[in-house]
Amino acid sequence: MDSQRASLHPLDIGLIRGYAIFDFFRTVRGSALFLEDYLTRFINSARKARLPLSYDRDSLRKIIEELIQKNSLEEGGIRMVLSGGISENFFTPSKGPLFIFCESLKLPGAEKYQQGVQLASVDYVRPIAEIKTTNYTLPCLLSTEWAANGIEDVLYHHQGIVSESSRSNVFIVKKGVISTPGKHILKGITRQKVMDLAPYVLVRDITLDEVMQADELFMTSTTKRILPITSVDQTIIGRGVPGPVTQDLLRKFERFEA
Ligand code: PDD
Repeated sequence: MDSQRASLHPLDIGLIRGYAIFDFFRTVRGSALFLEDYLTRFINSARKARLPLSYDRDSLRKIIEELIQKNSLEEGGIRMVLSGGISENFFTPSKGPLFIFCESLKLPGAEKYQQGVQLASVDYVRPIAEIKTTNYTLPCLLSTEWAANGIEDVLYHHQGIVSESSRSNVFIVKKGVISTPGKHILKGITRQKVMDLAPYVLVRDITLDEVMQADELFMTSTTKRILPITSVDQTIIGRGVPGPVTQDLLRKFERFEA
């Protein structure tokens, strides 16, 4: 249907309590990139959030294919949102509506890949981080300050340990060794692709100090792909320019998009 006609009941706990799950992926030349990985994560998020999903993997895939075709969507994004539903006690999830829709997608400009971006650290841990919930309250709030300060996003850390950025995973490179956090994160599809592309990636706790002293730092997500980070809290990372390991991974990742 026309998105103007889609509606959400005002008593849906997606709206009232912020209880909903979603997923988001790209289309490249009219086909959904890594679709099966995203479907697996979405189905798992629904199960973990105890939200009944009326469609199985095959039906979801068919809807998505039809959506791409009907919208002649070449390069764009597709979002699936499953809301918590109307709840008698305004709390316990029920069978909520599922929205699947396409969006135009603006990837970061070439200059960001050439120069790298800046992050600001924030003491925070995403609650139930392994589920892709729609709860982005803190970064939405903070984002009003970012633009004025030239900041791309936040870097979450707690008790000295780094987890992820608000909508991306993070990796460090030190003396040629690539490491990424494994706790309190959403297991990103792009993160997994990087782990498949790199010869070896250590999944371990990483301190904020290590991040500051890394040779290279980069973030990964569906919308950012592999984006170099050249400063955190105004501390320059490495040489302050995108490093060779990051650039090599990005070149390899581009083959998926070719
Ligand atoms: N965000 N961590 C969080 C909290 C995320 O929301 C995302 C994705 C990621 C990276 O996952 P992936 O590589 O599968 O995109 C990590 C999407 C892109 C968003 O909210 O826009």
